This record gives sequence, C-alpha cells and structure tokens, in this order.
Amino acid sequence: MLERIHSMRRGAQFNEEGEDDDESKTRKNVSLAVRVTILMSKIGFLWPLILLFVTLLLFSIVMLSRRLVCVSSYEPSSRMNFFGIDGLESDFGSLGVPWCRSKHGRTVEWTSKDLLKSLEEFVPIYETRPIKNNMYGMGFDHSFGLWFITRWLKPDLMIESGAFKGHSTWVLRQAMPDKPIVSLTPRHPEKYLKKGPAYVDRNCTYFAGKDFVDFGSVDWGRVMKKHGITDVNRVLIFFDDHQNELKRLKQALKAGFRHLIFEDNYDTGTGDHYSLRQICDQFYIRGGGHSCFRDSDEARIRMKRKLFWEKAVDIQELCGRGEAWWGVRGEMRDNFNHSNKAMSYAEHFQNSRFVESVLDVYWELPPVAGPSLTHQTRYDPARVPSPIVEDGRFGLFQRLGLTRLETFVFNGYTQMVYLQISEPGS
Ligand SMILES: C[S@@+](CC[C@H](N)C(=O)[O-])C[C@H]1O[C@@H](n2cnc3c(N)ncnc32)[C@H](O)[C@@H]1O
Repeated sequence: MLERIHSMRRGAQFNEEGEDDDESKTRKNVSLAVRVTILMSKIGFLWPLILLFVTLLLFSIVMLSRRLVCVSSYEPSSRMNFFGIDGLESDFGSLGVPWCRSKHGRTVEWTSKDLLKSLEEFVPIYETRPIKNNMYGMGFDHSFGLWFITRWLKPDLMIESGAFKGHSTWVLRQAMPDKPIVSLTPRHPEKYLKKGPAYVDRNCTYFAGKDFVDFGSVDWGRVMKKHGITDVNRVLIFFDDHQNELKRLKQALKAGFRHLIFEDNYDTGTGDHYSLRQICDQFYIRGGGHSCFRDSDEARIRMKRKLFWEKAVDIQELCGRGEAWWGVRGEMRDNFNHSNKAMSYAEHFQNSRFVESVLDVYWELPPVAGPSLTHQTRYDPARVPSPIVEDGRFGLFQRLGLTRLETFVFNGYTQMVYLQISEPGS
C-alpha cells in the first residue's frame, strides 16, 4: 500500500518536474486557453450565430457524402442506407398499392395479431418441407399465406391448379391433414421424384399426365358428387397455373365456387398473366392508375427504385405503344406469356367493373417481414402493403424463428390474394 502511494507521488513529481519540452507545452496550452477565453468573452454575443453556421456546415457535408456514396445495385445494406437509415424508415406502399373494391366494403375476419401468432406456428412446420429449394414454385411468404388462409377457412375440399413438384399440395396438407385434395397439373409430381425431391399426396386426386384436364373444362358437378360435397361454400380453390385470372375467375363463378386464392397476383407491368391486381389498378383507386409522362414524379421515383429492386419497373417498361400502361404495356397476358391479347383502356376498365360486381372480399397477403430483416432483393416495397414484421423489429423476427430460414425463401413474394365471391343475387 505504502509502496503504491510512494510510486504515485513519484509519478506526479515526474510530471511536475518533467522535461523542459513538456513544461513548455503546458505553458503554451495555458496561454492559448487564456487567449481563447478572452476572445470568447469579447465575441460572446456572436456565439448563437457561429453555432448555427457550424451546424449547417456539418449537415451539408453529411448530405453531400450520402449522395456521392457509391451504392451498388441489389446490395441490401447499401439499399437500406440509401432509402432510410439502416432500413428503419419504411417506404412500403409509397408508390401506391392498388386493390379491388368489394361490393359492400367487407374485409377478412383475421387481424395482424392472428397473422403474427400463426407465423410462429408455421416456421417449424415449414422447416420440415420435403422440397427445400422450391425454385420456380412458392417461397416462404406465400406458403405461409396459403397455409394460414386454408387453416382459417377449414374447407371440406381443396382444389389446386398448378402443382409443379407438389410443394403447394404439401402446404395444403399441413393446413388440413384429413381433407381431400384435387390437383390439376399437366405433369404429375411423381415424375419429378426421379430427379430429386417432390411431394405426392395419398389423399389427392390428380388430374395429371394423360388424365390432365384444364380447370375450365372439368365437370365440377361430378367431382363434387364424388367427394360428397353438397355446399360449394366449403370448397377452397388455389390457382398457381399462370393463366389469365379474369378467365379463371369467370370459370370459378360458373362452377359456383366462392373462395379463391391466386398465388401470383402480379403488379401492373409485370408477370406472365393478367392478374387481379392489374385488373383493379384504376385511376379511381387510391394508388392506382399511371401517367406515362416521362418527366413526372412517378417516372423519377420508378427510375431510382429500379436500381435497387430486381422486380421494380421504370416508366419505359410500364408504358407500351400509345401510352398504354394497363395490364402489361396494354396487353392482357395469358398462359405463361404464350397467349397475349392487346386491350383498350375501356376494355380494361370494364374488366375491373365486372370484378368489383362479384366481390365480397379482396385481401392481399402482406409480406412476412421488411427487407432489412429478410434481405430479399426482388419485390419493390413501394408497391406493397406494410409487412407483418416491420423493418427494425429484429427481436420479433428472431423470436418467430425467421432468422433460421435462408434468404432465398423470402424472394418470391407477388401479392398473393384471397377473394371471396358474393352469393348469387346479393
Ligand atoms: C409455378 S408452377 C406451380 C408451383 C407450385 N404451386 C408450387 O408451390 O411449387 C406452375 C405449374 O402450373 C402448371 N400448369 C401449366 N398450365 C396449366 C394449366 N392449364 N392448368 C394447371 N396447371 C398448369 C405447370 O406445369 C406448373 O407445374
């Protein structure tokens, strides 16, 4: 203890009695400090102005450096820092989120709380999926949406059109373990089993391979009878077959079905088939309708966003000949982009009026989480409703188990939509 005090004193002594150099430095500092104090007292009344000037100078330097920074395309962290500090500033829906009006303005029964609760339940189920990398098929967001809606509605029969390797059949089966499925798909999922993972369901009637029949040509009365279905309200239809959704809606109406899910509800100017979202993108809808004026705010914003999101479209891509923006450049696309038809705006407008006249509910599944959490790089949040787990809520994202999933599973979001058709005559 004594020794410590001694050495401390020695240290202090050394400082006080140190080298000439040190002493002179101290002396210089003292005189500088005195001079600064005198100056400050002389210009004391100018201090608020000087402070304001320094703040403004610092602010402009920061802003300039943000603009000059080199932001690489599709690189999540740079994109986040460009659009909002660390991605916390949400720009979901900033370019408008068109939707279809329903006849009586009704919406779904479930709330965001229900979605959150179910997400936690679904993650461990999704981890057991047989097809781990379902390229060209559904990713996590839509798998969750399909599972959630199916489990909520509890149908007695599920019908899917477009099965590919069978991932969506597997999702339907997780939602309703004991109910029958009817699957229409040109190539039987068992064919894929030879090359890798696929799913074939034991309680599913396949119209596939040589037995394939298109949804529009099936004798649904016979199928219902075979499955003992007397109430078509108890049937859920899932379309993932890349066909014109107006055509599918009319076919479903004809058969009397009332609960439909469309997987790829493409945004205007994108995709390989005419979608509900495209049909309802109209000037009278908030966030709907477009201007092809190349010097507009929309054109400028779109051009910027295209640098960061793979699926974003700029005004040149959005607008076809004669400034046709509706559908995809004024076309009604069908059958994987193999059968397209030009349509006038009047025809497009009539299509939306027709859809609205038969709808009770139009509900777009929100993406599961913001891109600062999922690191997805494809869909542009500016055309999408706010996510279930918002950017910045990493704790929640982690608690739900979503950090355990690979990034690529979040890349397939295309505004999956649930439609409830109104009862005839209502
Ligand atoms: C995107 S994939 C479906 C993905 C699948 N639902 C999944 O979750 O993995 C589209 C499927 O539609 C099938 N298809 C093509 N034309 C069809 C038609 N007219 N009716 C039903 N399915 C069709 C394709 O063969 C393909 O398997």
